[in-house]
Amino acid sequence: MQLVEESDSKTKVAAPGPISAYQAKLGSGELAPDPAQAAAMERLQALWQALRGYDPPPLEAAVAKPSGLLGRLFGRSSAPPRSDPPRGLYLVGEVGRGKSMLMDLFFETAEVPRKQRLHFHAFMQQAHRRIHCWKQVHGDSADPIPPLADSIAADAALLCFDEFQVHDIADAMILGRLFEALFARGTVIVATSNTAPDDLFKGQPGRDAFLPFIALINRHVEVWPLVAVRDYRRERIRSLPTWHVPADGRAEAALDAAFAELTGQARGAPMELPLLGRVIEVPEAARGVARFDFNQLCGKPLGPADYLAIAEAFHTLVLDNIPRLGPENFDKARRFITCIDTLYEYRCKLVASAASPPDQLYERGTNAAMFERTASRLAEMQSQEYRALPHLVGQSPA
Ligand SMILES: Nc1ncnc2c1ncn2[C@@H]1O[C@H](COP(=O)(O)OP(=O)(O)OP(=O)(O)O)[C@@H](O)[C@H]1O
Ligand SMILES: [Mg+2]
Repeated sequence: MQLVEESDSKTKVAAPGPISAYQAKLGSGELAPDPAQAAAMERLQALWQALRGYDPPPLEAAVAKPSGLLGRLFGRSSAPPRSDPPRGLYLVGEVGRGKSMLMDLFFETAEVPRKQRLHFHAFMQQAHRRIHCWKQVHGDSADPIPPLADSIAADAALLCFDEFQVHDIADAMILGRLFEALFARGTVIVATSNTAPDDLFKGQPGRDAFLPFIALINRHVEVWPLVAVRDYRRERIRSLPTWHVPADGRAEAALDAAFAELTGQARGAPMELPLLGRVIEVPEAARGVARFDFNQLCGKPLGPADYLAIAEAFHTLVLDNIPRLGPENFDKARRFITCIDTLYEYRCKLVASAASPPDQLYERGTNAAMFERTASRLAEMQSQEYRALPHLVGQSPA
């Protein structure tokens, strides 16, 4: 608890919870005041209060198994709802409005013994993997949803999802029953999204079968539009030079500053990105931003699937020390081309230090022509227009 004032023999303490962390950031000037964010923060503070010490016991009652394939995919489980778990929150708004920032303050301060914050797309990939493994052991006729929900709920009574989005029919088919089972187990959901629940999976084949999920979300989670007036990310990244030449100590300091500006913290932490039974080592990450040295990203045998996982997990990459490329280090150049293609397709933003400007990175040799598109994309990725585009996640880029 943070002491703010002492008077006589009484000691007053600041209201604990995300609101004091938010106010501290306003006070230090790290965040600009924004009435829409303040209103959303009030709501998060109320949820924080309702969730203090929230620790629902495991669901003992067996979840009934609806029969038939469609019943199992879309049907309602008859698990009795847990008595009055607090209603979650779904922050929806345009890009860069501060949704993830607010949710992260809430998540960091939440006094819930079992809590998880995940990128929604990563959560769904994990869910499919676990269903697949479960079916391999128990066969196709067994219903994988109840045990999956049991294990997710055992790990987290509070699940915070960043960038909630549904584009995949495979996701749409399991979401209704999975979330119903999670709510029945008392799991509370907080999410950020660019799409209101009513508009999820819009215009896609199979939408009708998805409607019960939308109704379920609206019942268990309050939808809160965050209509902040400014795109703060755009302002931050617009003011940042994104390509630093040469890759010297000054460039490194500029990349340190960019990382701090984009994440609100001087340093990130190493993390492991799960991918099909293995992990990608991310040397430094925080709040949707990853930092790699060129050799950590392109000097190791990473392939398209790895770059795709990185491009989906992070909206911005900070990349140190891109060298001159040519036939002598063609393996690295080829990986760099794949990596940039993927980042570009997913509208990831790039801040880098390099031996030269993009169009001089690969000047000689038989494959120089192949690099032209990469150089052109790198140039475009520095433009204001590109930097204002939203990060694409969980959908096949056009
Ligand atoms: N009030 C503010 N003042 C200054 N910077 C802010 C403010 N709110 C948010 N930011 C910063 O703006 C950037 C974008 O915020 P954030 O990532 O939370 O947006 P978002 O709404 O989640 O966007 P997206 O929909 O693209 O995920 C972050 O670096 C964040 O710290
Ligand atoms: Mg966000």
